[in-house]
Amino acid sequence: MKSLKDAREELKKVLKRLHEAKPEELGKIKEEAAKYFKETDPKELALAEQELIQEGTPRAEMKRLCDVHLDMMKEQLKVSAKSINLPASHPISILKDEHKVIKRNLKKLKRTLEKLKTCHSFDEARGQVNILKELSHFFLETEKHHQREEDAIFPRLEAHGVIEPPQIFKEDHVEFKAKKRILNELAMGAEKGDFKEFLGAVAPIIDFLTKNLEDHIFKEDNILYPMSLKTLDKNEWPDVRKSFDAIGYCCFAPADLSKKKK
Ligand SMILES: [Fe+2]
Ligand SMILES: [Fe+2]
Repeated sequence: MKSLKDAREELKKVLKRLHEAKPEELGKIKEEAAKYFKETDPKELALAEQELIQEGTPRAEMKRLCDVHLDMMKEQLKVSAKSINLPASHPISILKDEHKVIKRNLKKLKRTLEKLKTCHSFDEARGQVNILKELSHFFLETEKHHQREEDAIFPRLEAHGVIEPPQIFKEDHVEFKAKKRILNELAMGAEKGDFKEFLGAVAPIIDFLTKNLEDHIFKEDNILYPMSLKTLDKNEWPDVRKSFDAIGYCCFAPADLSKKKK
């Protein structure tokens, strides 16, 4: 039987080949890689990536690569993440519930942009601009969600030697925060300037958020959270929950908390 170390080295080789593949070879290498990914659990994959970064692969490159193999593992990951059963009060359940609300609002954001694109003036777009104002406020509120991940879960992962994945997710959070702030400023200041200019400014931000935040959530639900469940000790989770409560929640209360309020 292969030792864990050998298996990781092999996995790293596969990842490296994917990373270095020329476009015309990518299909073939993907096919070969698929069989490795089938047997790989998310934590092993994350640790292999972490080692590659420590050995010199730039983090940005790793992120791009991550998207390639994620795409290949999508179905398999969904199945294994689905099999995790947790009570609604568990911190991971709370985060996943929040993701559902965030995803719904990302769809709404996309629809709003599509409708805005059919308008020619602020007068015509008033209803959509109001929706955009509400949505941009909602997305600012989700900062608490990211803060709980960063302050209550990431340091615990790092204490267990999982260093790189939290760094990648943190970098995403910084980018999202900046975009969400600009979106909110644009929405709140709308109707003051030129409608075309306004549309030209909000469109790329909405495109960025709908694509990248959706991907970020997928990676968390299917890789980062299952990996956290495997990495943290069972008795650490009540403390995570305490940290969650201390940081606070978003304007949308997760199922467990709204039940408590009644
Ligand atoms: Fe996150
Ligand atoms: Fe998240």
